[in-house]
Amino acid sequence: MTQNIKKRIFSGVQPSGNLHIGNFLGAIKQWVDLQDEYDSVFSVVDYHAITVKYDPNVLKKKIIEIAKIYIAGGINSERVIIFQQSDVRAHTELCWILNAVSARISDLNKMTQFKDKAGLGNVNVGVGLYDYPVLMAADILLYNTDIVPVGDDQLQHVELARDLAKRFNHDYEKIFKIPEAKIIKQGARIMGLDNPEKKMSKSAKSDLSRIGLLDKPRLAMKKIMKATTDIGAEIKFCPKEKPGISNLLTIYSLLGNIEIKKLEKKYTNKMYGEFKKDLAEIVAEFLNNFQKKYNKTDDKQITEILTAGAKKAEPIAEETLLKVKRAIGLK
Ligand code: TYM
Repeated sequence: MTQNIKKRIFSGVQPSGNLHIGNFLGAIKQWVDLQDEYDSVFSVVDYHAITVKYDPNVLKKKIIEIAKIYIAGGINSERVIIFQQSDVRAHTELCWILNAVSARISDLNKMTQFKDKAGLGNVNVGVGLYDYPVLMAADILLYNTDIVPVGDDQLQHVELARDLAKRFNHDYEKIFKIPEAKIIKQGARIMGLDNPEKKMSKSAKSDLSRIGLLDKPRLAMKKIMKATTDIGAEIKFCPKEKPGISNLLTIYSLLGNIEIKKLEKKYTNKMYGEFKKDLAEIVAEFLNNFQKKYNKTDDKQITEILTAGAKKAEPIAEETLLKVKRAIGLK
C-alpha cells in the first residue's frame, strides 16, 4: 500500500507595520495557491516583530490583524495550521541551540537585510535583530519543512536555514530536513510606487510607496495615479529600462489575472494616464473584495483559531526539539 504523505510548507509574516500588496502577492497568495497540495503551517511571527522598536499595545492588535489578513486572503483555517510563534516555546529554544552549536558570527555578518535595517556601523540596534535569521531557521526546521514560500528578500535567510540544517546534521545527527525556498516568478519583488528601484516595504517612510491591504480603496487609487513612471510613453515590460511601468504591469497582471503580454497589447499607443486609471480600478476592486472578507472575521474567532493552531503546531515542534536535545547531549 502506498501512503500519500503530503510535503510540508512553512511560512510567516511579522506583525509589524502595514501589510501591503507586496506581502500579499509575494507570499500570502502563494500560500493560498499551495495550501491544498501541501501540509501547510503558517505563523504570525511575533518574536521577529520585537527585534525593532515597537509599541506593545500596537503589537497586540497587529497579531490579530495579520491572522485576519491570512483568512481574508484565502487561507483555510480549517485545513491548515495558523498559529502565533510565541505560543510555541520550541522556537526560541531551538534558536538558542542553533546559536550555540551551529550558527557562526561569519554567517550572520553576511545577512544583507540586517545591514539594511541596522545601517552601517550602527551598534545601538538590539542583538535580536542580528540573530533574527537564526530564529527564522528554527521556525522552519522545527516543522520538517520541505518548502518555504516567500518573497525574494527572504531568500538569503532560507539559504542560512539550509546551511545550519546541513551543518547540524553533519556535526550531530541527521535530524533536520533541508528546506527549499519557493519564490514565484512574477511578484516576488513588488517595488515601491514612489521609487521603483526599492522594494515595496512596510517600513518605508512614505505611505505613498505602498498600497496597504487595509487602505481605503479611494486612497489606493490616488496612490496608483501618483506612482512614479518612466521616461518615454511606451507601456512595455522592461524592468531595467522601465522599472516604474514594469512594476505597475506586474501588479495589474497579478491582481487583474491578465498576462503581461496581453496588457502590453491592450495598451499599445495608449497613454500612461489611461493605463493607471484602469489599474487603479483593478486595485480598488481587489481591496474592496479583500476588505469585505477581512471585516467579516471577528477578533474572537481569530483568537480561537490561533489557540487551536498552537495546539497542533506544538507537538510537531516539540518532537523535533526533543530529538535535537538528545543529539546534543541535553537529554
Ligand atoms: P515579512 O514580514 O517582512 O514579509 C512577509 C512576506 O512578504 C514578502 N515580501 C514581499 N514580496 C514581494 N514584494 C515585496 N515588496 C515584499 N515585501 C515583503 C516577504 O518576502 C515575506 O515572504 N523574516 C520574514 C518572516 C519569517 C519567516 C519565517 C518567513 C520569520 N520566520 C519562516 C518564512 C519562514 C519576514 O520578515 O517577512
